[in-house]
Amino acid sequence: MRKTLGLLAAAFLALLVTAGPACAGTRERLSLDAGWLFHLGDVVPPAAKGHGMSYGGAKAGNAGGAAATDYDDSGWRRLDLPHDWAVEGPFDPGENASQGYRPRGIGWYRRYLAVPPSDRGRHVELQLDAIATHSQVWVNGIVVNRNWSGYNGRNIDITPYLRYGEDVNVIAVRVDADAQEGWWYEGAGIYRHTWLVKRDALHIATDGVHADPVRQGDRWIVPVTVDVESSAKVARGAEVEVTVTDPAGRQVATGRARVQVGALESSTARLELSVRQPTLWTLQQPALYRVRSVLRDKSGELDRVDVQTGFRTVRFDADRGFFLNGEPVKLQGVAIHQDHAGVGVAVPESIWAFRLRQLKAMGVNAVRFAHNAPAAEVLDLADRLGLLVMDENRNFNPSPDYLPQLTWLVRRDRNHPSVILWSIFNEEPLQSTEVGYEMARRMVAEVKKLDTTRPVTAAMHDGLFGDVNVTQAVDVAGLNYQAWAYDRFHKAHPTQPMTSTEDTSAYMTRGAFESDRAQHVLGSYDDEPSDWGATHRKAWRAIAERPFVAGGFVWTGIDYRGEPTPFEWPSASSFFGAMDLCALPKSAFWIHQAHWVKDRLVVKVLPHWNWAGREGRPVRVMVATNAQRVRVLLNGQPVAEGDVDPIDMVTFQVPYAPGRLEAVALRGGVEVGRDSVETSGAPARLVLTPDRSALAGDGLDAVPVTVSAVDAQGRPVPTANLPVHFELQGPGAIIGLGNGDPNSHEADKGSDRSLFNGLAQVIVQARRAGQGGLTLRATAPGLQASSVVLDVTAATPPAAVPEAGPFTKIGGWRISPPQGDRPDPGTAPSYGDMNTWGWGEPPMKQDPDGPTWRIYRASFGVRADRNDGRARLVFRDISGRAEVWSEGVKLGEKTDAAPGPLSLQLPKGPAWRTLNVLVQAQAGQESGLVGRVVLEPAGP
Ligand code: GAL
Repeated sequence: MRKTLGLLAAAFLALLVTAGPACAGTRERLSLDAGWLFHLGDVVPPAAKGHGMSYGGAKAGNAGGAAATDYDDSGWRRLDLPHDWAVEGPFDPGENASQGYRPRGIGWYRRYLAVPPSDRGRHVELQLDAIATHSQVWVNGIVVNRNWSGYNGRNIDITPYLRYGEDVNVIAVRVDADAQEGWWYEGAGIYRHTWLVKRDALHIATDGVHADPVRQGDRWIVPVTVDVESSAKVARGAEVEVTVTDPAGRQVATGRARVQVGALESSTARLELSVRQPTLWTLQQPALYRVRSVLRDKSGELDRVDVQTGFRTVRFDADRGFFLNGEPVKLQGVAIHQDHAGVGVAVPESIWAFRLRQLKAMGVNAVRFAHNAPAAEVLDLADRLGLLVMDENRNFNPSPDYLPQLTWLVRRDRNHPSVILWSIFNEEPLQSTEVGYEMARRMVAEVKKLDTTRPVTAAMHDGLFGDVNVTQAVDVAGLNYQAWAYDRFHKAHPTQPMTSTEDTSAYMTRGAFESDRAQHVLGSYDDEPSDWGATHRKAWRAIAERPFVAGGFVWTGIDYRGEPTPFEWPSASSFFGAMDLCALPKSAFWIHQAHWVKDRLVVKVLPHWNWAGREGRPVRVMVATNAQRVRVLLNGQPVAEGDVDPIDMVTFQVPYAPGRLEAVALRGGVEVGRDSVETSGAPARLVLTPDRSALAGDGLDAVPVTVSAVDAQGRPVPTANLPVHFELQGPGAIIGLGNGDPNSHEADKGSDRSLFNGLAQVIVQARRAGQGGLTLRATAPGLQASSVVLDVTAATPPAAVPEAGPFTKIGGWRISPPQGDRPDPGTAPSYGDMNTWGWGEPPMKQDPDGPTWRIYRASFGVRADRNDGRARLVFRDISGRAEVWSEGVKLGEKTDAAPGPLSLQLPKGPAWRTLNVLVQAQAGQESGLVGRVVLEPAGP
């Protein structure tokens, strides 16, 4: 018998182990992106009038309108995040040019969320990576967050507000995108990822691991701090073990520390690990190390966090600029905003990878994410690709409502080897005032509390020489468009390092070589600087020739929506990029490539060679190359030759004749490579060129496909501007389209897009759990169609929170005092009486007494999808006899006094109902609404 019991116990234990919560102790990071409901426009709750509504509305959990738990969202649109509603909208000349003439407005999101009872006692955090622009978040009708920036993430502990089991939770988010923080396109909505992170009550805090290697003399140490916090009910102790693993997966250092954390408190474990001769993180070989922190107690592993970091030193020198690992590196930088063709600001990570690879190909080694924090995954990419990052805070404001944005940025990003410079602001008019200085001083101090290894800058557009100015509060002086001041500042402040934080601002339309201001077209010979900027070449010369200027950041690497300077409507996106909105190269791409790429030949001949009607007349030919000299051949015959200025490049006038134009790059008189363009005929066939031929079927991976046209001989037609229609078959979708024309008003969504100067882009994304061939077909009237098959490979999608639907629980019950006689079913508490009638939620059990009566009264909203006359009003358990009344009508009754359920059909009726449930106790028996009262949809 004993043995049997023992076996049974063992079996039960095994069951617990296998059937219990998947990883009771350890962290689950679940994507919350799928299954949101969206409503464009505000939902204004009815104004509170009268005592009952005012009193009720002031209580935790009772938010009104679309924030209410039981709000009827049955007509809302279902979608998956990330989502930018602005890019779905039309162009409207009445809207703001700076925001790309897109309506923004206000929108609401709701997400239902079931949490299993096994999660009771765990710590549950809602992470919102960014929402444009102001937002408010409620969980179960309780406001849990307000935020005043479209660029910072929020990590919200929602543990106390959660309901478990069938009682589904609801997250509501109101997004105010009428608020603007920039003069560029900012998008609208929950445009970055969302997560639900479940951990043990004792766990490692979000962004709580700081592990940034430092060199001390000839040895490397990794000072590690691990913040541990607890939502447990009692103090707990644990051990933190940290291991550092090299790029090959070998453990190179390990250490342990103990923490003791009080209930609802936090504590920090500190370790110092030493690593011998690590492989350095360099731009060419960005070696990444993993730092794993594991939290354990006697019961086993409680939590684990991996961060990626790298071993490298950074230093800004007042005379010699920037040094990486002791070697001088000129910052060949670009500034970029975050929107992309087709997708707005909801940019998949794989499209970011494409954008950054394009920049890297251009010779860029530094990126300034202007003027705000990028998504976390973008910095991971920068680490992996070997790009340096100037990491910028959005709002210049050290007040308690705003400083946390800076704190969040530094805590999140301080392990990244790519991040070399913090920027507290861009171009602030207060920059040379005492107020500006005092504000900056406080923000710099905040950064220094969290990271002492990287300098701080601020991008100033004047005021460098004011008596009091922000250069005095920062480590590195940041100059926007002040090439005139480079020498003067260096002379006046010979010990302060400086960099250009922004320069150039020159215009170009991709593929256009003649400016036509009436048509809002700007030519691509790099001779269209803005009034305040300089050409790409001039701006770079001023930096390149001064070793004390650490480098520069071209405005911009890639075009962005909004700021269509020097034009306004109908132009809707920028002309500044070295690449267009699709990240397809303009001439400036090749010019900078020639400036910046040192380890391979660059030779690019510009423009195209389709100049019908210009025969015999000179066409300006520019060759962008890092070779010394160039010979130009037209149809095989030499027509020009000249030395190349390494910054200005070389330009010739070549009389036009159709055919083949070639640029032969020469070094020491010997050909080292060549590039050519060829006159083409009418477009005959479309060509689809995907950036990659396979994509992962994880619901995230996306591939940009370049669309072009060729003539009957297969030669590209760079002047083709013709409409193209797309069809996609297989496990995926077209998520956006673009063509880089700043004047285009074609939709970013849908299946049609014109070629602009020969090119367009379609972005396709694989479906979650997708697999097989994804066929993209492009057609255009009169042209041979083209199709391409992309291979969607099986991939494990990120673990996700299952989708859930609304659960209508009737709550907020008032309970009348006991009465000897059956009361009138219409009885209600008297006006303003918040005390004589009680308050409660099931289980509501009254002690056994005589055969008394009580009324249980509650009001509730009936969702449209439950107001069909078929929904069931279910009382899970009533103890006593009961009559159910609503709006003066008896819906049904329970005649048996023994505890039991009651299920009634809810007739069609108004959206707002009040229930009066008359319960008559059975003498000597508990009475009341013991089980939940829910409104269930009619069965299938
Ligand atoms: C700068 C500003 C950028 C952009 C640029 C255009 O002053 O920092 O955000 O507006 O001008 O030239």
